[in-house]
Amino acid sequence: MNPIMPATCWALAAALLATSVRAADVADVTQTLLQTFQSSGAGAFSASDGKALWFQEANGRSCTNCHSKDVNSSGSHQRTGKVIEPMSPSANPRRLTDQKKVNKWFKRNCKWTLGRDCTAQEKGDTLLWLSQQ
Ligand code: HEC
Repeated sequence: MNPIMPATCWALAAALLATSVRAADVADVTQTLLQTFQSSGAGAFSASDGKALWFQEANGRSCTNCHSKDVNSSGSHQRTGKVIEPMSPSANPRRLTDQKKVNKWFKRNCKWTLGRDCTAQEKGDTLLWLSQQ
């Protein structure tokens, strides 16, 4: 028997498992949050509206101030200069895997950027778009 085979198979299985667990996480968290937003009065979600909100500028502020213009690249905090890891789940597998974290930052960042809370519709649109990046 070839002793290398089992190790290779094992590594492959582990890699596949890791990938599918990760994908399920983003999908699950996104799905759960979208349902929550819908039950708070949002209608059908639109990724293109979410993208528009992401790039929209209000009083010189936009989500891209800190997250950069490319969701696959790192950003840097407008005020502190601290590096912010890429926002897209494809470039950064930790993104959108923690419901509490997503809610917390939507709250803070909408306030900072737009000067108000995002509506359930806006959060759902943006989340949907981000989850596809
Ligand atoms: C003033 C800087 C700043 C701006 C502007 C900003 N963010 Fe953020 N955002 C952060 C920081 C800091 C974090 C947390 C650190 C991290 O996750 O890397 C974060 C994290 C997030 C997360 C959590 C993602 C996750 O699962 O890890 C979401 C969602 C988010 N931001 C959405 C937005 C949206 C939507 C806008 C525009 C309305 C926006 N942000 C604008 C600084 C900013």
